Amino acid sequence: MSTLKAHYRMDAPARETRIDRSMNSVIGKPQDRYEGPLKVTGQAAYAYETARNRKDALYGYFVLSTRGKARIIRLDSRAAEAMPGVRHVVRDARAVRGSADPSDNKPALIEDEVVHYGQAVTLVVADSFEVARAAARLVQVDYEPLDGDYDPKELTDTAYDPGDGAVPSTVTKGDFGAGFAAAEVTFDAIYTTPSQSHAAMEPHAAVAEWDGEDLILDGCYQLISTNVGQLAAALGMPKERITIRAPYIGGGFGGKLGIGAEAVFAALAARETGRPVKIALTRQQVFQMTSRRGETQQRIRLGATRDGRITAIGHETITSNCVGDQFFEPAGISTMFLYSGENRRITHRRTDANILMASSMRAPGEAVGMLALENAMDEMAEKLKIDPIEFRRRNEPERDPQDDLPFSSRRLVDCMDEGARRFGWERRPKRPGDLRDGEWLIGYGMAAASRKNMLQPASVRLTLLAEKGARIETDMTDIGTGTYTILNQIAADMLGLAPEDIEVVLGDSRLPQGPGSGGSWGASSSGSAVYTACEQAITALAKRMGADRSELGLANGNVIAGNRQVTLASLLKGEDLVIEATFEPGKAFKSTHQASYGAHFCEVGVNEVTGETRVRRLLTVAAAGRILNEKTARSQCFGGQIFGIGTALTEELVVDARNGLIVNHDLAEYHVPVNADVPQLEVVFLPELDPYASPLASKGIGELAISGVGAAITNAIYNACGVRVRDYPMTLDKVLAGLPAGHGPR
Ligand code: MOS
Repeated sequence: MSTLKAHYRMDAPARETRIDRSMNSVIGKPQDRYEGPLKVTGQAAYAYETARNRKDALYGYFVLSTRGKARIIRLDSRAAEAMPGVRHVVRDARAVRGSADPSDNKPALIEDEVVHYGQAVTLVVADSFEVARAAARLVQVDYEPLDGDYDPKELTDTAYDPGDGAVPSTVTKGDFGAGFAAAEVTFDAIYTTPSQSHAAMEPHAAVAEWDGEDLILDGCYQLISTNVGQLAAALGMPKERITIRAPYIGGGFGGKLGIGAEAVFAALAARETGRPVKIALTRQQVFQMTSRRGETQQRIRLGATRDGRITAIGHETITSNCVGDQFFEPAGISTMFLYSGENRRITHRRTDANILMASSMRAPGEAVGMLALENAMDEMAEKLKIDPIEFRRRNEPERDPQDDLPFSSRRLVDCMDEGARRFGWERRPKRPGDLRDGEWLIGYGMAAASRKNMLQPASVRLTLLAEKGARIETDMTDIGTGTYTILNQIAADMLGLAPEDIEVVLGDSRLPQGPGSGGSWGASSSGSAVYTACEQAITALAKRMGADRSELGLANGNVIAGNRQVTLASLLKGEDLVIEATFEPGKAFKSTHQASYGAHFCEVGVNEVTGETRVRRLLTVAAAGRILNEKTARSQCFGGQIFGIGTALTEELVVDARNGLIVNHDLAEYHVPVNADVPQLEVVFLPELDPYASPLASKGIGELAISGVGAAITNAIYNACGVRVRDYPMTLDKVLAGLPAGHGPR
């Protein structure tokens, strides 16, 4: 068996690649999910289920802090330990907090002190889940209360510059103050968005087992290699001794980016009991002890000429996090590049609170920042008496208005125009109240979508199997996004193999390091590593064939050069060919500004009696480079649209301002959209190739559709009934309060 190495740093744009000349056309097809049959037949074992046949596995149940900031002065577990079936109460870790920020490599072991309500204090381990849960109630924890800050709304005066995070904390250009003061028409408003919960379908879970000094952890984490380091740091052990496996993950949305307390405690408990220990959080615990999206307060100021050219654009944001946590919601990210304007000021400020950690959640930044920006654009368009699409078109920048870089590709205007045509934008009611259907007032709204494109280094191992087909291996995860399927398609297309003959193995930290799932970088980054490996395979096969690689064609398991055709198997001569490939972004990425773009169009009905909003139609037109799988990409966009319905209308974590308790900590009280809330959804992709974004010419798609969609919905509400609420979510009580006299029950 021979092993080849391949390395590709993308310094030049990738034009007219082998994929463009492909004889196979597998990439892009709406291929069914690779692991779909395993999932629908229950054979895909999620973290907690990996121990389903282990009779020796013990069950862990958390005792959580019932105070906000407090010192633990006594922890008495005698009554719990006396209960039949209880095996252990974890002692040497009193308060372990998760770490949701991938840059934050330290799930802190905090001695004696809890900093927020719901923080893990200890774990009870028993023969059954029920016994562990019952015994956990018997653990006595005595606290000495400490002064804490529980109401982020009260803290905005203390907001401070947190320093640069994933995006800079402050971005300026020109002189915003002077530009705004001199503008012919100005707009100035504050928007607020609430804290939200990721609420993934699969609750956080971990199963830990020790083999001597080595730990094997089955978990549900998005960034396995980072998570190994975090777990090693928490346990004070070398990361070489830790394996994390997560081949199937039931949704993450950012809530599983970092290692969680369940992993740390399962590991501790397994070590102390000498048995495998499994933990699954209850839904209430997921809400209260993992992480959340931070609430925001966002001031938008726009200055424009009377004919609608923006001259000054300001977006100042404040968000909170738990004391000591580094993340801030980068709510101003789109404002940095979406519209022109020579004077600019975008800031991110943070306050510290004693509330559950805030972390990345689905399109961190855009998902809530674009609510404010895209509402403000509509409000300004109305002030200027310009159609909202036309106003955006007039402020379409030729280059990135902040750093003056060329855009790698940008079809925002095309998305708006195509959307307007398909949606029938010309039938939009001219004024609120113009169109009705019985007691329902009908309105149309739109918003732009953008999501910054990201690309990460990634490695894979590709094995051309002497027998038949190929295998791809990487620690990259698939959190429901389609990684398995897309990597399979890329290899099938480039190697001329049938998709069913290519095995994809993911989610094991012993495999070559992928980028993990986050930031919509997964498909392009790990796909580019597969591309790199396939290119190397083609070079090797060309050599064996005595042909020039550029003339080599691969199709139907055959290798073709000129008028010669042999089977791939015959070139392998009974020996597997192994390629270890690493891809990394280079100058092509840095020399351009990269983002995916789209436009959302929404029709709502607002009930004039109850103030209730029903979304009647929702269309998203998107351009995100090459679409690698039409079905999985569309599915991601449906998810974003539905997320946006929740964001606009119902989702809000309610925090008890006395102690930081999350009051509505389950799916009965935290309202995500259900089927009845979701109309027929439509998603259209505009053809686009972005040679700067990746060798696949693809950009991120996963988080694009949530970006801006909530604003399209609330803009439609305004168009329907004339009520503009700048405090999300736009629940019926807020709409009703704004309806003109004569409407509603008053
Ligand atoms: Mo995503 S919020 O980067 O998992």
